[in-house]
Order: sequence, then C-alpha cells, then structure tokens
Amino acid sequence: AARRKTAPEIFARKGGEPIVMLTSYHAHTAALVDKYCDIILVGDSLGNVMHGFETTVPVTLEMMILQGHAVMRGSKQAMVVVDMPFGSYEASKEQAFHSAARVLKETGCGGIKVEGGVRMAETIAFLVERGIPVMGHVGLTPQSINTLGSFRARGRDEADSAMILEDAKAVSEAGAFSIVVEAVAEPLGRKITESVASPTIGIGASVACDGQVLVLEDMLGLSPWAPKFVKRYGDLGPGIEKAIQDYADEVRSRAFPGPEHVYNLKPKAPK
Ligand code: KIV
Ligand code: NA
Repeated sequence: AARRKTAPEIFARKGGEPIVMLTSYHAHTAALVDKYCDIILVGDSLGNVMHGFETTVPVTLEMMILQGHAVMRGSKQAMVVVDMPFGSYEASKEQAFHSAARVLKETGCGGIKVEGGVRMAETIAFLVERGIPVMGHVGLTPQSINTLGSFRARGRDEADSAMILEDAKAVSEAGAFSIVVEAVAEPLGRKITESVASPTIGIGASVACDGQVLVLEDMLGLSPWAPKFVKRYGDLGPGIEKAIQDYADEVRSRAFPGPEHVYNLKPKAPK
C-alpha cells in the first residue's frame, strides 16, 4: 500500500512547491482527488453541499466521522484532514482532545482542522503535544456566522488585518502543521504567509499562500452559487442535468432499457 503524506511532510513544504488541497466527502470523488492532491479535506462544508444547510453550524461529529471514513476508504496517498464541526471542540481543550481522538481513531485520518486564532491557540498546543496533528483556519471562519453576521471577506482594514495576523501567528506558534486562510484581502494573505512558520493554504487569500484549497463541488460547477474566490474549472451541473433529463425521457418512451441491458435466460443444458 502507498504511504500517505504526513503532517511533518506538509509542514516542511513552507515556501516550497505549492500544497494542493481539495475537499471530498465520499469515496468515489476521494479516489480522483487522491491522484493529484497532497491533502484531501473532509470539510464541514459537507453541511452545505451534502445536506443543504445554509451554514456549517448544524454539522455533527457523527457526520464528519462517517464521511471521513468514506474518504479514507476511497483514497490511498493523500493526507486526509477532517474538520472538527461547531460545538465539538470550543468548550475546552479536553473536549477538543476527546472529539479529535474519536475522529482519528474512527476514521484513520492523518489530522484534524479547527477554526479560530488566538482563542484556540492553547487547545491546538494541547492536541499537538498529545499526538493530534492540527490544521488551523483563520480569516473568515464560517462556524462563527452567528456572531459575525455575514460571510463577508475579512482583513480589509488595518484593525481587522492586525487581529487576523495575530490569530495566524498564535495558531502557528501553537504548532499547527498548516493554516487555512479564508477570504482575506490580498495583502493580508501575503503578509500572513511571510510572517508565520506554518505553511498557509489559501482560499480567497491570494496566490502568495504556500498552497490553495477549494470546495470540490464549487470548482466543478456543481454548486448553484459560489463565492468570488472560486474559479470554475468544470461545468458539471448542466452535464448532470442533461443525463438525468435523457434518462427520464427514455424511461417514459420505453427506449431504456434496451436489449443490451437485460439478462437472457440460461441456454438449456444439452440432454
Ligand atoms: O469546510 C471546508 O470545505 C473548508 C474549506 C473551505 C477550507 O473549511
Ligand atoms: Na470548514
């Protein structure tokens, strides 16, 4: 079996060849992402993509473990990182360890991701010291939607930029093997990348980051809507719709199934 990429290997990529990450929530897409990416993120964006929630707040640890395990079965070389969902890690470092240990034990993944900067630093250090690789996530942190009030980009003025830079430094110093930087003004993405030891993985955070990530369904053109920072590398929505429409038409006209799709009787055994 191929050896998977590890947290120390990802950490060592700082300033080097860009780290390629995409999300996946299920075995068949994981197998495709695994061929080309360093890291597969089982993001809590599965709440939006798979379950139709408007935010990631309702996502549960059970959902993350179920899809994390599916992605592990579908992939073999990428490092698989599973998002810790809202409510599973914020209350205390002990709660975070308990939840994260479940994710590692029950999925076999290589690391977890938590949202938050300065406020999460103590927890991140606690996890890392106890054998749990942690990816940080600063800038726009969608699990905080109810206190933020909107999904607007961050770091567009000096005060907000300074705060997010402090967040990134705290997460890096706590021992995160990499940090997702989401939806921040371009100069801040660059500044954070130059200022912290952990590789930064940008999503709407500039080309200066040490790597990039997108939500797979967004870049494939399957999501009905996607943020400004998403480049659409595919246009799968219309292709899938056409296939479904053709199937429905052919069932109604009895053109499907054809003779090639049916089983024939076994030939009679000679007497
Ligand atoms: O949940 C997710 O997909 C993420 C990425 C957007 C970084 O956290
Ligand atoms: Na997420």
